[in-house]
Amino acid sequence: MRILGIETSCDETGLAVYDTERGLLSHRLYSQTKLHDAYGGVVPELASRDHVLRLLPLTDEVLQEAALTRRDLDGIAYTEGPGLIGALLTGATLAKTLAWTLDIPALGVHHLEGHLLAPLLETPAPAFPFAALIVSGGHSLLMDVRGVGQYELLGDTLDDAAGEAFDKTAKLLGLPYPGGPALARLAESGTPGAFKFSRPMTDRPTLDFSFSGLKTQVLLAIKAQGEDRSRDADIARGFEDAVVDTLVWKCRRALEQTARSRLVVAGGVGANLRLRERLRALPNIEVYFPRPMFCTDNGAMIALAGALRLTAGQREDAVIRATPRRELASLSPPV
Ligand code: KG4
Ligand code: ZN
Repeated sequence: MRILGIETSCDETGLAVYDTERGLLSHRLYSQTKLHDAYGGVVPELASRDHVLRLLPLTDEVLQEAALTRRDLDGIAYTEGPGLIGALLTGATLAKTLAWTLDIPALGVHHLEGHLLAPLLETPAPAFPFAALIVSGGHSLLMDVRGVGQYELLGDTLDDAAGEAFDKTAKLLGLPYPGGPALARLAESGTPGAFKFSRPMTDRPTLDFSFSGLKTQVLLAIKAQGEDRSRDADIARGFEDAVVDTLVWKCRRALEQTARSRLVVAGGVGANLRLRERLRALPNIEVYFPRPMFCTDNGAMIALAGALRLTAGQREDAVIRATPRRELASLSPPV
């Protein structure tokens, strides 16, 4: 089955073609970062309008790269939610319209299921069951995963998600949006231990996360420096180490609690090199990451998640759906 994947939940237009026999045939990503840069965050209306401009040219490009025409497609997968309603609607509308004209099925995919299953694009792919850490701009989740659509929530964000904490802290340090990669780069030249921030909620058994207090600690540290910005890199390093330590601690606990020996890490913060290094060092645990470009939003993960459900026979009606808020643990297995 050849599936076109469409991702438009936020500020990235992602397209991909996934073949259930040959694997990923092509993928393209257009990032709107520059468009939103001046505003310090994503402007939903601008995001939707830009998706409209990019979707069809990118669809043509991925088909061309895969040496296919629209008629060769067997199904279309699109991000149904969670995400920005206007942005979601652009992808959902294209998917349903194209599917209607081609007389093939279109299926809405949960954005976080896309992230969660993205490591299956890699070789070796993780086998079910596994524990999963999903750390993106909007979510920090620990899940126990027994199969496609068999997800048990172990821990959740109580306030700022890990990526959001990176973005907000980066803003405090005067770094451009999105702040995660910029902050990680600045932290490279910082001295570990020069600033010691707390490891939130590691003093109790819960697997929930809370990162908003950390941001306040960074703000106080910045203010204490006055006009002197020479210690920004040390502050960035102190913050990154605090987030990474906390995530690693919670993963260890989740693995113990579920008795799983495999850990899957996905979502934008999964691209963080220090996090990857620290998780790889966990004893007796196999850790699986998508390649860094598939940690952040992309069409390949949506094509893959859609392919797994479409090949199992899951279908939906022709109604155009976009669901801004959706719990991952509410999903069911295909069909
Ligand atoms: O998964 P994603 O692309 O979008 C959402 O679904 O939210 O994640 C984006 C988030 C942003 O908050 C970004 O700052 C963060 O992932 N991020 C990183 C890194 N690369 C992206 N955070 C820390 N280190 C990175 N290298
Ligand atoms: Zn995402």
